[in-house]
Amino acid sequence: MIKVAPSMLAADYMHLDSEIDKVVASGADVLHYDVMDGTFVPGITFGQGILKMVAKKPIPMDVHLMIANPIKHVREFAEAGAKYITVHQEAANFELRDTLRAIREAGCLAGVSVKPFTSVDAIADVLNEVDLILIMTVEPGKGGQKLIPFTVDKVRQVREMCRKAGVNPVIEVDGGVNLETAHLVTEAGAQMLVAGSAFFKAQDPAEFVKALKAMPQAE
Ligand code: DX5
Ligand code: ZN
Repeated sequence: MIKVAPSMLAADYMHLDSEIDKVVASGADVLHYDVMDGTFVPGITFGQGILKMVAKKPIPMDVHLMIANPIKHVREFAEAGAKYITVHQEAANFELRDTLRAIREAGCLAGVSVKPFTSVDAIADVLNEVDLILIMTVEPGKGGQKLIPFTVDKVRQVREMCRKAGVNPVIEVDGGVNLETAHLVTEAGAQMLVAGSAFFKAQDPAEFVKALKAMPQAE
């Protein structure tokens, strides 16, 4: 079954406590936690201090680091309570392998992400080092954007690449996922769906999560 990762980015920060309770009660699998540093992406969001508080909630933390030089920070996010830590290939650059190893050494599951215009070939060398691959279906940096259609094919490509390499990381998709677009990416092979605005705008979050979980999966 498809896993669902509501993104805290779209929550009402004045009521974070009840917003996260809403995520937990909805039956979602993980809480997606978007970290932006104002360098790798224009915006700045939340860091380790807030994660430490939020991670007390009974749901695993899926930390998406949209930050430059992620290797400098993975240990702090691990200690703050992350389960998954995902870094960008474009940000980690030649330190990608070391960064992914540092994540695993810190006791977390290691994820790698590529932006829409980065080819999946850029991560071919690290398939053995990852537990999760995050395909960005929008330009990272803000919520509420439309899914970019050509990125769907990258989900297919990465799935095929993993199959050929004999590895089985979770394939996650992030950006513009809603009840209309979700099937496009699940049919292509996505197994975990991030949903920010669509989750927090849903009339009935539990129904929303149930509908995403029931999306048709690739064989
Ligand atoms: C965008 C973030 C996403 C964002 C998705 O840079 O990585 O996780 O929260 O938001 P929606 O679901 O609104 O596109
Ligand atoms: Zn994200």
